Amino acid sequence: MIPDDFKQQLLNRVDIVDVIERHVPLRKAGQSFMARCPFHNEKSPSFSVSPTKQFYHCFGCGAHGNAITFVMEYLGMGYVDAVKDLAALAGMTVPDVRSPEVVRRAEVTADLGAVTLAAARFFKEQLRKSERAIAYLRSRGVSGEIAARFFLGYAPSGWQGLAEAFGDYASSKALVEAGLVIEGDGGRRYDRFRDRVMFPILDGRGTIIGFGGRVLDGGEPKYLNSPETPLFEKGRELYGLFQARQAVRESGRIVVVEGYMDVVALAQHGVGYAVATLGTATTPVHVQKLLRQTDDLVYCFDGDGAGRRAAWRAMEVSLGQLADGKSIGFLFLPEGEDPDSFVRSAGREAFEARIAQAMPLSEFLCRELASKVDVHTPEGRARLLHLAKPLVTQIPAPALSLIVRRGLAELAQVDVGDVDALFGVRREAARSPAATPRAARPGARTPSIVEVLIGALVAQPALAARVDRSLLDPADPQTAVLEQLLDHFAAQPPAPGDHVVATLLGRFAHTRLGALIVAATGAGDASGEYDYEADFSRAISELKQRWAVRRRAQIEAKGFACLTAEERAEYAELLARGTGIASGMHGEPVTKV
Ligand code: UTP
Ligand code: MN
Repeated sequence: MIPDDFKQQLLNRVDIVDVIERHVPLRKAGQSFMARCPFHNEKSPSFSVSPTKQFYHCFGCGAHGNAITFVMEYLGMGYVDAVKDLAALAGMTVPDVRSPEVVRRAEVTADLGAVTLAAARFFKEQLRKSERAIAYLRSRGVSGEIAARFFLGYAPSGWQGLAEAFGDYASSKALVEAGLVIEGDGGRRYDRFRDRVMFPILDGRGTIIGFGGRVLDGGEPKYLNSPETPLFEKGRELYGLFQARQAVRESGRIVVVEGYMDVVALAQHGVGYAVATLGTATTPVHVQKLLRQTDDLVYCFDGDGAGRRAAWRAMEVSLGQLADGKSIGFLFLPEGEDPDSFVRSAGREAFEARIAQAMPLSEFLCRELASKVDVHTPEGRARLLHLAKPLVTQIPAPALSLIVRRGLAELAQVDVGDVDALFGVRREAARSPAATPRAARPGARTPSIVEVLIGALVAQPALAARVDRSLLDPADPQTAVLEQLLDHFAAQPPAPGDHVVATLLGRFAHTRLGALIVAATGAGDASGEYDYEADFSRAISELKQRWAVRRRAQIEAKGFACLTAEERAEYAELLARGTGIASGMHGEPVTKV
């Protein structure tokens, strides 16, 4: 909704030093500013803020980004709110550039919101009047206070109970769109939720956006949920998150459970930081949302096979969201227990003791994989690595990834270096992120060609037009990352004066490209003096040379007898350029087949 050029102007206008200093005291250190990192606990400062490049980077936990991402992550705000916050600081007004379509949607959403809220009030009122529903909640140990905190209600048992609350029951479009009323074949309307205890679902701002409804007896389905509406997307929302905020701040932790009743029962027993998905699997959006508010996330599942499968899915969608400094754990309850039954019989302390001993994601990953293969045979260990590769390579957190790779290497009885080679992992994170592309610092790893190119391109985006993509090596895992950067520059060429690094880090935070950009720039580095053109030219000629070597090998592989006249000429030219000698890879050309 916010136009890119406004975001760009905003990033150019605000100074990241001011933005961060509002929350974290900064101390000048050479070109940059240092502080104790606000994103992880540390004694000595490793959080660096660059005024020239307008970005921050923590050498300890790897947190990095621009002014917008700082506000999002530090204050737990969404993107739009963060932009508004910064715009206010800079005295700018966020333009309302909503298309007619968006405005219409906003109106629909407002209608749905009004209807949903009115329905929730009606259900709440009905709960007060229904002895049966009150008795049911009592039997499940829910107090009046907790019922109020979760706005619990009751949908009465008639077919058109809501008609009492909505004068336009027969005609309202919003009631149908909100999923509260169903229109049958003959146009006859009836309530979706009948004779059910109602659990309103709130979004992050406390707006009621949908419902879950539970039967009071053994009827089917046990839970009925509002359908997806423009207001209510199950893959983005979490039950109880709004009510949990305070407890999350106090405990620093969020527990994800499976059921509405689990959240309510835990709150009843003093565990206020539990949330639940809405009868669906955990999504990356969920994880992103949760990790914005906590460093310590624990998934709590039943101990049965279904619980383990759900945990595995949650693990898979969490991998890409991991950051060093965040921890994700898995708690498996004893067979036959859920958090509700467990906390009711064993109490808060026993539950929290289990939480504290949750299995770290890294261990869960290794254990589950090891249980799928026979680690006592070489083939089994090879399969272990085969299964692990697509998972581990999604982990953007350098330290955590390394630890997982170490664990796997041990299980597979190979060196971690071999695992890295197998997974195509380069150790960019292993060296100091302050290293610049040319960094011939003692002990520093020589950067790859792609890393040199990224360093040069980020410093001088105009160079992007001079990269001939056909020269890139499709077998190099970094090629795709470089192409991502080239695509970005092609789609949105930076204007002079833009803070390119800051923009890129906002856009590509927590991706491999983001990590390479950080590695290639370095917050403490003085800008403006280095000859990036020379780096760039050297890298391009190296690319050409490698391309020629590959091309020669391709032609040789065809066999000389099968070559067309053109290919022969090309081959002769490649030879004349001396690629075989330069690369040291090939001796005499193959002339016979
Ligand atoms: P469970 O069946 O584990 O329910 O479903 P529970 O939370 O233990 O419920 P109680 O204790 O019997 O009341 C967990 C979650 O799965 C979704 C709901 O979100 C529920 O909270 N679910 C379950 C449905 O959407 N539909 C169903 O029929 C059952
Ligand atoms: Mn239950």
